[in-house]
Formats: sequence, C-alpha cells, structure tokens
Amino acid sequence: MDKGNVWDERAQAYRDSAPHAAGPDLDRLVEWAGAGAGKTALDVGSGGGHLARRLQEAGYAVTTCDPSPGMHPDVICRAEELPFPRASFDLVASRLAFHHFTSTELALAEVARVTADAFLLEDLLFVDERVEQAEKLRDPSHMRCYSLDEWRALFAAAGLAIEASEVIERQTSFSAWLERCNCTGETAERARELLSHRLDGDNYASTVFLLEGVKTS
Ligand SMILES: C[S@@+](CC[C@H](N)C(=O)[O-])C[C@H]1O[C@@H](n2cnc3c(N)ncnc32)[C@H](O)[C@@H]1O
Repeated sequence: MDKGNVWDERAQAYRDSAPHAAGPDLDRLVEWAGAGAGKTALDVGSGGGHLARRLQEAGYAVTTCDPSPGMHPDVICRAEELPFPRASFDLVASRLAFHHFTSTELALAEVARVTADAFLLEDLLFVDERVEQAEKLRDPSHMRCYSLDEWRALFAAAGLAIEASEVIERQTSFSAWLERCNCTGETAERARELLSHRLDGDNYASTVFLLEGVKTS
C-alpha cells in the first residue's frame, strides 16, 4: 500500500485530531505568518487542513497540497515534486508533515523554489533514538526527525536564512496518538515501553520546533 492510501484511511482521524486542530504551536505559526489580506499561501502536506484553515482566517488565499486524495487537498502532489512555478506564493508553510517525506532535501528545495519570500515550518524535533523507534512502530510512514543543528544545515543548503526559531513542548494524549494510526496490541505496548521517559500516565510529552526561513536568493 502506498503512503497516499495509508493517509486516506486516516483522514477523518486527522481532521478530528485535537493536537492538530489547535495549540500554542499552531497559534505561534499563524502569528509568524501575520496578516494575509491580498497574499497567497501554500500549505504543504496539508492533511486535515488545520493550518490552512487558520491561514485563511488570517486573510491568506490558501492552496492546500497533499498526496492523499482522502485529505481533499486542492492539489494532489508530493512535497518533493511541487507542480507550481518558481515564486508562486507569497508564503509557503508546512506543519507536522516533513517527518513523513521521503526526501527532506528535495522537499526543502521545492518549498524554497515555489515561495516568493518566506517558508514557515513546524515539525517534530528529534529527541532520541527511543522516540524515533516508537514513532516508526506506531506509524511505519514515519521517516525521520532531525535536531535543530541538522535543520539549520538543511535550511542553509536550500538557500533559506533562519529568521526565527522556537521549541515547544506539547502535552498530548498517548492513547489518542496510538488510535490515530490504529496501533494496537504488542506494537502499542512496545511503543509505550520505548516512550516511558516521555509518558506520565496517558500524557505524552512531544517536542515540536518552529522555523521561519527567508529566501536568500
Ligand atoms: C499529520 S498530517 C499533516 C497535518 C496538517 N499539516 C495540519 O496542520 O493539520 C501529515 C500529512 O503529510 C502528508 N504526506 C505524507 N507524505 C507526503 C509527501 N511526500 N509530500 C507531501 N505530503 C505528504 C500525508 O498525506 C498527511 O496528510
């Protein structure tokens, strides 16, 4: 089964997901985006559409793109091959999706190509190998999280200068996190063991980062 089909099955769960629908991380990303009246934005890996909705509320004319037809994006495509000309959008943004992309380098080169100016990124921060293993067990489409140092190098290679960065600790429901990807039984138990240092009852402390990149050329 390809990734698009996996995400089609999960589409409703991600539309209904509380940590995707709201939170201080989403508020901060939208604050960084600023007023959008008269401006265009592209949301890459738009999923259940929560970032896109908030950017629309801020006044942006938003185009959503995602490879999963079940997510109902405006454009069905992968981040690694964006079907838009150079500098098509005033703002390009992506939230909680990059760790699923097959090639971070290609996707970053693409967002840098299609933005006229800024790229806003939120994603899971690399914590340790136990967290990576648990993420991959719970969701085999999880590719890799990176540290801030690794992201700094990736942004520089893509021609994006970092204007702002922030790290935010999110408190989420561990059981809801498992349910969204239909992770049950022994696999769920192993994920629980691996995440024991991040769990307090059902509370899962997951760390995200936000970066604001601006095109250097
Ligand atoms: C967790 S959801 C994104 C949540 C969404 N950004 C929000 O704000 O609610 C991850 C999304 O990444 C998409 N995705 C997976 N691989 C992708 C790729 N190579 N390019 C673009 N999107 C991809 C999935 O289809 C899924 O919709």
